[in-house]
Amino acid sequence: MKHLIDIMDLSVAEIDELIETALDIIKDPEKYQDVLRHKKLATLFFEPSTRTRLSFESAMLSLGGSVLGFSEAQSSSAAKGESVADTVRVVGCYADIIAMRHPKEGAPLVASMFSPVPIINAGDGGHNHPTQTLTDLLTIRREKGGLDNLTIGICGDLKYGRTVHSLINAMSRYRNIRFVLISPDELKVPDYIINDVLKKKNIPFKETASLEDSMEDLDILYMTRVQRERFFDESEYMRLKDSYILTPEKLINAKKTMSILHPLPRVNEISVAVDNDERACYFRQVLNGKFIRMALILKLLEVI
Ligand code: NCD
Repeated sequence: MKHLIDIMDLSVAEIDELIETALDIIKDPEKYQDVLRHKKLATLFFEPSTRTRLSFESAMLSLGGSVLGFSEAQSSSAAKGESVADTVRVVGCYADIIAMRHPKEGAPLVASMFSPVPIINAGDGGHNHPTQTLTDLLTIRREKGGLDNLTIGICGDLKYGRTVHSLINAMSRYRNIRFVLISPDELKVPDYIINDVLKKKNIPFKETASLEDSMEDLDILYMTRVQRERFFDESEYMRLKDSYILTPEKLINAKKTMSILHPLPRVNEISVAVDNDERACYFRQVLNGKFIRMALILKLLEVI
């Protein structure tokens, strides 16, 4: 049985296949509207979420299936001290597939070792967020026409931002990719990703604190929120939270074709004045998240 715990669980060919399925769903949603009738998705969210949980639920409902679950740890038996292993053994008796978000890194991996049904990692601590990355890849493919030959700027909290870690891993497998990693010193990409992914694969990258300096080179600008909930020290968060605020003025030197992505939620790192710029893709990105999750559920349930 297949789970999706890390984006690297999928080969490039499998990712391409998921993207093709998502594009087919976008073209002809009626074809898919009943394919999962009588199947159930459980969303086990031990950590807050709006779009990820609702996008999984909306995806399952759009395939004709149904959903159950909880949206905070306090309303589950975890509050009584139940282990993740036991929770998924139990929920696996009620549902055909499980999407799990957890504050602890590795919790979905543990779940996958005990679950009788496929587990999808919907975000584990500051570690990984593979379905956000599938969303990002579908968005880049639709906006840019392909996933090769891109200079990708990633800006904000590159230390705790789990979407950043999964995105670097995934994009490193495409051709002629360069990264510009824009963050304050305190929020740089963790060494294990710099060493085990970028340096190991000889992928060109630059680390900088300046958002403006490389703006003109970028094909993609991926903005992220400073991850308040992962800081040990609130004063450190307060000091770093306004490190980057993208405004129309800062986009003056950007390519006309650059795409601005953001996994959302946004706090203030993109000014609302940017929303009407045609390069702003982040709300289209949300919709892509639903389609790619439909494709993923179909794949894990072996319908495609
Ligand atoms: C992201 C996450 O949960 O990591 N949100 C999401 O799933 N779209 C990004 C974030 O919370 O900043």
